[in-house]
Amino acid sequence: MNTADLIWMNGEFVAWEDAKVHVLTHALHYGTGVFEGIRCYETEQGPAIFRHPEHLDRLRRSAELYHMDMPYTRDELREVTHELIARNGLRSCYIRPVVYRGYGPMGLDPLANPVECFIAVWEWGAYLGEEGKANGVRAKTSSWRRISPESLMPQAKACGQYLNSVLAKIEVSKAGYDEAILLDHKGVVCEGTGENIFVVRDGEIVTPPYSASILDGINRRSIIEIARDLGYRVVERDVAREELALADEVFLSGTAAELTPVREIDDLEIGPPGEITRQVQKVFDDALHGRAERYREWLDPVQVPSKA
Ligand SMILES: Cc1ncc(COP(=O)(O)O)c(C=O)c1O
Repeated sequence: MNTADLIWMNGEFVAWEDAKVHVLTHALHYGTGVFEGIRCYETEQGPAIFRHPEHLDRLRRSAELYHMDMPYTRDELREVTHELIARNGLRSCYIRPVVYRGYGPMGLDPLANPVECFIAVWEWGAYLGEEGKANGVRAKTSSWRRISPESLMPQAKACGQYLNSVLAKIEVSKAGYDEAILLDHKGVVCEGTGENIFVVRDGEIVTPPYSASILDGINRRSIIEIARDLGYRVVERDVAREELALADEVFLSGTAAELTPVREIDDLEIGPPGEITRQVQKVFDDALHGRAERYREWLDPVQVPSKA
């Protein structure tokens, strides 16, 4: 893994190797943390963070769902993230803020444990590989169902909830596939382990709705907007499992994976990335890298503090 020099932790910049927690940190035992995955891109105007306020708002909402009061405001987190990127001298990076229950009483009631926060940044290439982004990945439907709203909160990006994605990812990677697709508790298509999913058929783009236990992906929203701006009809509706194999094109979206086409599902060929996937991917990529004037407001340019 690529490291950086500094991590921001509970109000201070600390050396990468000194960013440590106590073994009795509550989140380590019970998963009581929430997090975000954000990317900063090199643009002509310098490093810029994609949809930064939206990610920080989702972080706050996830924390609220788990009864954690955010120890810092959105502006404070935004500013320290800028400073962290600048002080690490990064032009582009992945950003991982985590808000979690720290060291305190043991037991399942976390309310007396302190709410702590850190932000780490590092250089991270294409999550499902450059080859996958260019030519598509091989996916398999997992035997694990996505967490249901009857037991947890699919809309919260909470640490413990990711054991569900971890099980699905292990299952399909051991079987030789690049990514898992999870069905929801009702048996309709939900999403990948860290990506939302889109299906193209007869020129129409379809994606599962919130009621299918998806995470409300920020890239999903961006892609829906881009596709509609390009003149495509985008429909949010339940997707049956076999619709993936019958699709003309399938692609995934997420901060880590960006827009990654799917070329095969459950050993059935979908084919190389199609025309609509390519077109949306191109505009999306331009938006991420500050080349699309229309979506420039989605970028938060990193303000470099004078002392850095
Ligand atoms: C389970 C899950 N679904 C979907 C997504 C895509 O969300 P976003 O586009 O906000 O990165 C992610 C990544 O954060 C995720 O972890």
